[in-house]
Amino acid sequence: MAKHRVLVTGATGFIGRYVTQELNSRGLRVIGLDRHRSAEAFHQEAEVILGDVRDPSAVTEAMGQVDSWVHLAGVLGTQETITNPVPAAETNVIGGLNVLQAAAQYHLPGVNISVGNWFEDNTYSLTKHCIERFCSMYRQYRSLPVSVVRGFNAYGPGQSVAAPYGPSKVRKIVPSFVSRALNGDVIEIYGDGKQVMDMIYVSDLAFVIAEALEFTIGGGRPSGAFEAGTGRRTTVLDIAHKVTELMGAGKVMHLPLRPGESPGATVLADTSTLEPLGIDARSFVPLEDGLRKTIDYYAARA
Ligand SMILES: NC(=O)c1ccc[n+]([C@@H]2O[C@H](COP(=O)([O-])OP(=O)(O)OC[C@H]3O[C@@H](n4cnc5c(N)ncnc54)[C@H](O)[C@@H]3O)[C@@H](O)[C@H]2O)c1
Repeated sequence: MAKHRVLVTGATGFIGRYVTQELNSRGLRVIGLDRHRSAEAFHQEAEVILGDVRDPSAVTEAMGQVDSWVHLAGVLGTQETITNPVPAAETNVIGGLNVLQAAAQYHLPGVNISVGNWFEDNTYSLTKHCIERFCSMYRQYRSLPVSVVRGFNAYGPGQSVAAPYGPSKVRKIVPSFVSRALNGDVIEIYGDGKQVMDMIYVSDLAFVIAEALEFTIGGGRPSGAFEAGTGRRTTVLDIAHKVTELMGAGKVMHLPLRPGESPGATVLADTSTLEPLGIDARSFVPLEDGLRKTIDYYAARA
């Protein structure tokens, strides 16, 4: 019997590579659609169509080859996209609509990834939340079987590092703290560091996405978004201290908050939303274990 085929947009990105692995391990065949190929060795063999989600014909053509889809392609950056919102809006909103239109054309079930801080007023949250709302519209008025997974703060081996240590335009907390400690630089914390984050190890997020996809393919209808987080309150300071403790290196300094960040912000998943998927968030990788693996990954490349 032919394998079930899944279109994964953004397949060569950080989360996309783990989602590809997770779906492959379940016997599904992944066809990626991404602007770039991945430099990561474990992804070299994946089947990837080079294309842009802003191009409706590229998306429709790719969607015509599959049985379901996971939409991950996106432009990230909470602070980075405030001064120039247009590129993020084009990919996240227009690209997202192209995916939903093509899925509706073939009536294919799928999963769209959103963010945990969907309620904040920055380009990234606004554009991701906009497509989340469009998913509801397609579900209600176009009968499209689509689920939304809100990913909280994903981290793990393979996440790209921002300048001056790597090529990424977006500063993510774990690669940034670990790279600074590895290079003997001070770890920079914006604000007092008491902002509460929900750190999810990337393979746990990939697992939730795969479960949500199988749920949707199986005819499950979500009552709201699945919140892929641990529900554990972790402050920025907790992460900095854990990184310095595990690495035996690194000092911490405080800088003013950046645009788009609010003091005392709390972004925490409601893990009860995972119950329809049969997932218990208490089984997710503890922060210390995830950080150890992640630090080992960056240390081996330093
Ligand atoms: N990293 C996180 O903590 C996190 C949390 C919640 C949600 N998300 C969402 O997960 C998705 C993947 O994030 P990631 O961390 O893997 O980021 P990433 O930057 O590593 O991956 C994004 C991928 O999308 C591709 N892409 C970007 N614009 C494209 C376009 N116009 N056409 C085709 N491909 C395009 C990129 O080439 C890249 O491979 C994004 O939609 C992001 O908003 C990420």
